[in-house]
Parts: sequence; structure tokens; C-alpha cells
Amino acid sequence: MSTLLHLRAAGTSLVLDLADQLLPVVRHWGADLGELGEDELQALALAGWVARGDSPFDRADQVSMLPEHARGWLGRPGVEGSRAGRDWSPAFRTSGEAPATVTTEADGTRRVVVRGGDACAYLEVELELELHPGGLLRTRTTLTNTGEEVYDLGALRTTLPVPERATELLDFAGRHTMERVPQRQPFDIGAHSREVRTGRTGLDAVHLLCAGEPGFGFGSGQVWAVHLGWSGNQTTYAERLFNGSRVLGSGERLEHGEVRIGAGERVTTPWLYAAHGTGLDEVAGRFHAWLRSRPQHPARPRPVTINNWEATYFDHDLARLTDLVDRGARVGAERFVLDDGWFGGRRDDTTSLGDWVVSEDAWPDGLDPLIEHVHAAGMEFGLWVEPEMVSLDSDLARAHPEWIFAAGGRRGLESRQQHVLDLGHPGAYAHVRDQLTALLDRYAIAYLKWDHNRYLNDAGHTPGGEPGVRAHTLAVYRLMDELLAAHPGLEIESCSAGGGRVDLGVLERTVRVWASDCIDPLERQQIQRGTMLLVPPELVGTHVASRESHTTGRRHDLDFRAGTALWGHLGIEWDLATCSEEELTELSHWVAFHTSHRELLHTGRVVNGDHHDDATWVHGTVAQDRSEALYQVASLRRPDTTGPHRVRLPGLDPAVRYRVTLESPGQDPLPAGLGVVPWAVDGITLTGRLLAEAGLPVQPTDPEHSQIWRAVAVGGSGGATPRMTA
Ligand code: DGJ
Repeated sequence: MSTLLHLRAAGTSLVLDLADQLLPVVRHWGADLGELGEDELQALALAGWVARGDSPFDRADQVSMLPEHARGWLGRPGVEGSRAGRDWSPAFRTSGEAPATVTTEADGTRRVVVRGGDACAYLEVELELELHPGGLLRTRTTLTNTGEEVYDLGALRTTLPVPERATELLDFAGRHTMERVPQRQPFDIGAHSREVRTGRTGLDAVHLLCAGEPGFGFGSGQVWAVHLGWSGNQTTYAERLFNGSRVLGSGERLEHGEVRIGAGERVTTPWLYAAHGTGLDEVAGRFHAWLRSRPQHPARPRPVTINNWEATYFDHDLARLTDLVDRGARVGAERFVLDDGWFGGRRDDTTSLGDWVVSEDAWPDGLDPLIEHVHAAGMEFGLWVEPEMVSLDSDLARAHPEWIFAAGGRRGLESRQQHVLDLGHPGAYAHVRDQLTALLDRYAIAYLKWDHNRYLNDAGHTPGGEPGVRAHTLAVYRLMDELLAAHPGLEIESCSAGGGRVDLGVLERTVRVWASDCIDPLERQQIQRGTMLLVPPELVGTHVASRESHTTGRRHDLDFRAGTALWGHLGIEWDLATCSEEELTELSHWVAFHTSHRELLHTGRVVNGDHHDDATWVHGTVAQDRSEALYQVASLRRPDTTGPHRVRLPGLDPAVRYRVTLESPGQDPLPAGLGVVPWAVDGITLTGRLLAEAGLPVQPTDPEHSQIWRAVAVGGSGGATPRMTA
């Protein structure tokens, strides 16, 4: 077989070079190169050629996916580790006969497996790589210790090269109630490295690390992006060397002694996901297509949820909660979630985590009266849990203090007056599993909101205090898997003080991420936009909150609150007992609008406008066949100029004519008159090209309000007539 492999999918090409019994070198990852003959592929391999005088080594090459120091890579190596100082610079060789196994899966996924070994370092490596039909690439590495002495692993990382024209970096930071804050910088020489040492993905998670052409936006500029599917400590980095190499890489961040590979043992990295696209929306589309293609992706419509947290907090009064259920049902909610405060002595956040038994004090008749009420109202029931946490004031901590993480004889700092239960202890794991199983067996719980409210600190496994984050993270995955297997139909949401655990590792077993504890729609614009660059909208919790935001104190009308929540897995987190009849009616219109467009919202392509300023943002969801689309045009602040302000609508078929209307769920249509943009009254019919290039004037609104625009194909000059509408 040729040593050059060309894999193609949905506009992406990947060319791997397996020459000279070396681990694969990526000769091209990016835009589709079309059909290539052997000669053309061989020519691509020359891309790795460096003029002799310019190279520090006589023979130099491009970086392999598991970069080896021994092969001339002077950046971060793929394997870091040793046996008491030996075998720290492995040089892997594949079998010359068959360097790779290449298969095509039933769904069209191209899968490549490459095995290599270093007989001197007593290490073997297996590199798996998949290119999925939607163009998403993923890869992981398994390292096996074939020696007799323990191999102390420091890092095992996979990298992908990006071309020299990727001169700009974008990744994300953030904090509690302000997740997915984008940060941009030049791709300079050195490493831009994001190190997670907090034991969870993070409110400040890197989320996506993107390298792209100068000024790349949502719809323009080539972009290469990576994401590590892992919920524990990790390092994701962009590295540029003096020789012109640019790579994006990632792997778990291991503490000293955390992974000691015994004789014959192996360790496998989390999957590294990668996508290329023209603009961020195309990159996001590849992640969404992959997530949507998995068998565990929810097949049934996402139930509109009402959660009692910002409505009643720890006040678990049955009458108050059943009233909330009734009001929720009236406005169209389909699932009721009982949040924190139902167990042990938990009347506030100081106590009882770890005692997952219904509080007799708050719930003298158990949860039955509430659950029966929820069912009678036509809703399903969900329950909040925080299984990895323990309060020192709990029966669990009193009985098993040794199950609490502690390093160096210390328990580490308290956070929210709680500690972390080390699920690496089989007894701790069994305790939580058995208590949760008892609840799931006893009550009709369709859904768990799985919270995780603190950073890990001094996370040592007692009694020795060895680093325990990796074992704990794997135990969390195992626990979720075990509960899901034993309770078919159960769904789990990943929450972590808001959006602190949003990654493709936890999303293998969860169907919703809580994007943020901040439900202020102004803040949510950025939070949701960033979150949905990775996660499709149907897996992102988006709630309608109170008039006055509990986190920012800002006040917003319902058009902005509901108009911002509309786009994901819709929920309500508002004390509906405080609402007027008019507000309840208006809210019910919004919920009905969501459910009537839910299929589009939850299967379509997410698009974002590239704005000339930051006063008006536009984003939308376009049907996969481009027959219809919905957009939110949000006024974030007063524009600097008086206008006219036009908004361009991305994602439509340029050759098709669309009827665009201004939708006003819950409100009367606009009357014609001075100050009203004419098309906003009756709608307008224009081609997708015109809407994308020239756009439409915006009906002026006060800042921190928004409009919903709908575009429906009415027949195309290009011939495509996906759906006829008058
Ligand atoms: C943090 C979550 O993000 C909130 O939604 C809520 O569930 C609280 N924890 C409860 O303690």
C-alpha cells in the first residue's frame, strides 16, 4: 500500500504520511483537495522538506501526531515520562509491512489505526484516528509499557499541525456567571498553553482552541480548532517554533506520580476532537453533526423544563412547589426539576451533601406528593444531585472521613463549605451509586441535574495522598454509565456551578449542559454563542428568568429574556407566582413559539452574523435544507450612529427567495406608521443572496431588547423549492 493516505469527508481532507516506518505525519488537514493521484500525494509529502542549511538537523521532517524529540521535534513531545530517568525520549517505529489499518465503518467513518514500538524504551503505542462523515476528526493514543519496570508518565499528548497562514488564535476563558469569554491573540513563537489544574473542565475552560487566518470570523477565514473530550485536568496549547511549525495539541495534565504504568499495563488518552472550516460556524457545524450522529443523541423532543432554583431556592414547601408546577403546566412546561435542598438536613448550602436520602423534615411524605402532582400536570420529574461532593456536616463525612480528598494530611481549602468525595475509593463510589440507585428505583425520576460546585484542591487519594483527579474523573464517567445502563430512559444534565463541565467527555453520557448560572439575557448572548460553537443548541440549557436578574440585577422585558432563551433546550427559572396574568399569557406564547419551531431549532445549522460593530448581534438557526430559518436580532447597546442599521442574514440559499417576517410571540403585530420599518408590518420577499449581502433594515428598538425574524423559502430562481408558503 502507499504510505500516503488521503481521507475526505464533507469538505475536509486529511493526508497522512506513514513513510519510513515512522508515526503518521499530517501532510494536509484542511479544505478538501479533491481526488488526488499517487503523484500528487507524493508531491504533498514534499511539503515537509526543509532546505538543509535551514534545518538544525541533517534530516528534518514535519511533526508527527505524537511528536518525538528523537525525530527532531524541538517543541513539546507527545510522550513525557521515564523509568527513573531512563527511556524519556522514545522513538517509535511502525511495522514496515502494514504501517496502518484503514477501515470504513457502516456510517462512513474512515478509521485509521497505527501501531508502533520502541524496543529500547520498552514502550508501544497505538494511535487511533477517525474522520467522521461530517468532517470531524478525532484521535487518541494508547501507550503500553512492555518493560518490567514501572513507566512514570508525565504527559501523553496528541498534536495536529496547522499551516503558516493560521496566524491568529482564539480560545475562551471566563468565570462563575460569565463563561466562554473569547480571547484573541497572535499566534506567536512559543506556546500559548491553557493548563487546567482545577479538577474539572472549568468555568474558564479553553472550550475550543482555534487557529485561523487573520481576522477569521463566523462566516469567513479558514479556521482549525481542537477540543479535548475530558472533564478533568488538561493542557491544551498552540505551539509555534522557529522552524515555522505550528501545532495545536492537547492531553491530560497529570500530576507527578498520577499515572505509573506497570509492566504490561496501558493508558489511553481522552479523544482529541478537531475540525476545520471556513469560519467558526462551519467548524461548529462539524462538532454538531458529530454529536447529533451518535446513538445516544436524544431522539425525542427536548421537554420544556421548569426548574425551581431561582424561583424558590431552598424553600421546599409542597404547596408553593405544586403551585409552581401548575403555573408551569399552564405556560406549557413539560418537565419539572426539583433543585438543591430536598435531602438530608439541607435547608441551606452549609450541610448534608453526601446524604442522598429524602429529607423527612422537608418532605414528611417523601417526594410522592410532588411527583404525583407533576405527573398529573402532564410533566415528567427531574431531580438535582451533586454526587461528587460532601459536606463535613453530613452522616457520610462522619462515617467515612477517609473518603474525602486530602493531600499531605490536609483536606484542602473549603469551597462553598463543601469538600470533594474521592470516587476513586470503591466504598465511596458504592455509597453514592447505591443511594442514587435507591432513589431512581423508588421514584419515577426521568432526569438528574448532576451538579459539581467547586474546584478540586489538594485532591489526594487517602491515606497516601497520591493525586486522584484522573481516577476520580474516570469513576464519575463509570458511575454515570452504570446509572444510565440500569435505568433506561434516564437523562442526565451536566451542571457545574453553571457551565463548568461542558466537554465532549461528559457529553458521552449527558444530554444537556447548563450553560451558566447567569440567566441575564444580555450576558447570555455571549455565553450561549460561545457554548454553541461546540455543543448543538438542543443540548444547551437556556432558561427564561425573572424580570430582575438574580446575578446582575439588570431588568429586562420578556421579549429579550424569552427571545434569548428560545434557542436551546428551553426552560423557565422564574417564580411564576409573582407573574401577572398578562405575563403568564405572554410566556405561554413564547413557549408555544418554541415548541412549534423546536424541530428547526434543534436540528438546524447555527449561524452567527459577523458584525461591523457590537451594538447589534444576530444569530440564527437555518434548516439543513435551507428551506427556513429563524434569527434573533439583539440590540445590545445604543448604536453609535443614527442609521439606517441593516442586518445581514447568514446561512440562506443565495438562489432561493425567502419571505421574511418579524415575529412577535405574545405581542400584537406592529401597526404601520411613522417609525416603523415597512417590511416589519407585512414581511418582505427577497433572495438569500440579497439577505446575506445587503440585509434588511432593523426595526429600531431600545437597547437590551430583541426581535425574532423568520425566513421561509417561497421558491427559488435557482429552482430549489424546498417548501412553498404563500
Ligand atoms: C449551581 C447550579 O448551577 C444552580 O443551577 C443550582 O443548581 C445550584 N448549584 C444549587 O446549589
